[in-house]
Amino acid sequence: MHNIDQIVQAATAAFAATADPDALEQIKAGYLGKSGQIPGLLKGLAKLPPDERKLLGAAINRAKDAIAAALNARREAIQLLALEGRLAEEALDVTLPGRGQSRGGLHPVTRTLERIEALFRSIGFAVADGPEIESDFQNFTALNTPADHPARSMHDTFYLQDEAGGVAEGVLLRTHTSPIQVRYMQAHVARHAGLATMPEIRVIAPGRVYRVDSDATHSPMFHQVEGLWIGENVSFADLKGVISDFLRRFFENEDLQVRFRPSFFPFTEPSAEIDMAFMSGALKGRWLEIAGCGMVHPNVLRHVNIDPEKYLGFAFGMGPDRLTMLRYGVNDLRLFFDGDLRFLRQFV
Ligand code: FA5
Ligand code: MG
Repeated sequence: MHNIDQIVQAATAAFAATADPDALEQIKAGYLGKSGQIPGLLKGLAKLPPDERKLLGAAINRAKDAIAAALNARREAIQLLALEGRLAEEALDVTLPGRGQSRGGLHPVTRTLERIEALFRSIGFAVADGPEIESDFQNFTALNTPADHPARSMHDTFYLQDEAGGVAEGVLLRTHTSPIQVRYMQAHVARHAGLATMPEIRVIAPGRVYRVDSDATHSPMFHQVEGLWIGENVSFADLKGVISDFLRRFFENEDLQVRFRPSFFPFTEPSAEIDMAFMSGALKGRWLEIAGCGMVHPNVLRHVNIDPEKYLGFAFGMGPDRLTMLRYGVNDLRLFFDGDLRFLRQFV
């Protein structure tokens, strides 16, 4: 009798010790299966005298029922456990605050470029672009700057390497957007070949340019916007008018401090550089050069088969990164290209 109670206790404890349904069925086999403990006891009954057999038989059957009941209870408990686990795993906390979606924003220099395009389109300029990897010829020679010309040292040029690691002959990262003047004039002349009078050229060309340069107002990669207006009657006064009007509209300010300072470029004559004073920020009142400009040199026109006796015009190359500095009162241009979101987010 004592032995039978122990078997029931042992079975119940073994059931309780597992949470795995397969393991539970194996434990069950040890007690109730064909060669389990309970059938073993029942087999032993045959040897006993009838009244003992009856008594013990009833006790064994009660034990069998008790084990079966414990087994069923454990089966249900394990099922419930699994269900609760799954519910917990898939739980959705509807009270959590949402993750939200942060909005991207345009880079301040991109906004400047878009603004420049819009303003020049509004006065009838087309927008063109050209390759950032340029030939030495287009970047310098075609712009009246032959190989031994001292003006080449005005630009610290990144030259490309050839496969052997040497300097690739005549291939460089463009140092300014001026080669697009040449490309655009060539295409324009070809397009209108045979006409007695060539239609005017009025175009800007924004893009990235490269120089070995780095300080608060110089970045090795920066932007320029080239401008070109060629016609039969385009003067330096027009250049001054177009640039001054553009700047007033760009900065939405009638009282800008702007000056045209005589300068030199091999591809313009006369030439000037344009300076503007900071209106805000730590550098308020300080002058900053924003562009180079001038009347396109006759040699440049001749090179692209435009008759300098009949046509003339102006060109400029301005620095939109510098305009962005002036617009927001930023004192170091390299901040625009460091990729620090804490800085860039201020402009969104
Ligand atoms: C030129 O590059 C001439 N091609 C401009 C030009 C075009 C003159 C057409 C005449 C006719 P310059 O080297 O001064 O000129 O550069 C023009 C402008 O680019 C500068 O005024 C400045 O605003 C900007 N700039 C030049 N170097 C850098 C630099 N490293 N980082 C940022 N901006 C620069
Ligand atoms: Mg300059």
